[in-house]
Amino acid sequence: MAVRTGALNLGQGFPDVDGPASAIEVAVEALRGGQNQYAPGIGVPQLRRAIAAHQARHYELEVAPDTEVTVTAGATEAIAAAVLALVNPGDEVVVLEPFYDSYVATIEMAGGVRKPVTLRAPDFRLDLDELRAAVTDRTAVLLLNSPHNPTGAVLTREELEGVAAVAREHDLVVVTDEVYEHLLFDDREHVPLATLPGMWERTVSISSAGKTFSFTGWKVGWVTGPRDLVLTVMAAKQWLTFTNAAPLQPAVAHALDAEQGFYESLAKELQVKRDLLCAGLATLDMDVYVPEATYFVTTDVRRYGYADAMEFCLALPEKAGVVAIPAQAFYDDQDEGRHKVRGAFCKEAPVIEEGARGLTTADLHQ
Ligand SMILES: Cc1ncc(COP(=O)(O)O)c(C=O)c1O
Repeated sequence: MAVRTGALNLGQGFPDVDGPASAIEVAVEALRGGQNQYAPGIGVPQLRRAIAAHQARHYELEVAPDTEVTVTAGATEAIAAAVLALVNPGDEVVVLEPFYDSYVATIEMAGGVRKPVTLRAPDFRLDLDELRAAVTDRTAVLLLNSPHNPTGAVLTREELEGVAAVAREHDLVVVTDEVYEHLLFDDREHVPLATLPGMWERTVSISSAGKTFSFTGWKVGWVTGPRDLVLTVMAAKQWLTFTNAAPLQPAVAHALDAEQGFYESLAKELQVKRDLLCAGLATLDMDVYVPEATYFVTTDVRRYGYADAMEFCLALPEKAGVVAIPAQAFYDDQDEGRHKVRGAFCKEAPVIEEGARGLTTADLHQ
């Protein structure tokens, strides 16, 4: 719709500025230097070492680069491989709702049954009683996403301790999608579940260069975890892609080793952009849920009188020159999701300003 109508795309979550130039240079060197054939299935050693060093530096996690890391085609493949490897037909997967859309698809591809635990507006906290109630003797996996897309919630240490207690009690494997691990605001802290007592041995941790380094098109992600779980994920990954992005892997290794400043600045810039977009949205007749992390903001537009947010979003390009995403696609619970809209602020400030201007000067009522 954005292309067709010429509207600003504040819907999809991709940045409009590239990642670190030094990493692009390393990729170009790798392309020119003959690194154009299959990389090892688990990833080039240099990248696996850089991932392990990153886990040690940020989280004091000791990860063995040769046995406890696997490189994947983005976090998306890591999620798919983990779910396909760990979920058998009929198994239940407890997953936070609203869900990142690939979770629904991969759980269905595995023949699993999703059991949502809803993060509810306005603050999207995790209700540990609901989590406990969702776990049954058919639960195979807890699939967790923090920092969370689309709500921007960051699970607190206390919430994570609650999750860990449930996982230990029921002897569950937890798959954690941590792709926004560095895009936190207001001095919040990301706590990987794997750092909590008794959790390393049961957690598959996933991240990617897409969000951390604004290289969403590179699709370089990774899994870390204990050897047996990483091997299990590898068993599925072997038949999905086997290997990917050989010349980009050394570039991501370089970025992890040398470009920490990039994501530190990115988080600060995104916080300013969040405030810019939220300030514009706050003048409108909608609820605005200011995110703690990620580059998404959720709003509730029910006061504009549309039957649902899909209708609102279909009218938005015409009315305000802006495209946003109806968040109902991320919910089973339509009472919770029907009127929610997700916007993205990973765009340059003038684009956000123009979008906010379009929204504030339009009549958005039906
Ligand atoms: C929660 C979440 N997980 C995974 C991904 C995909 O990551 P990648 O591009 O590395 O496959 C996204 C991208 O939007 C996301 O929001």
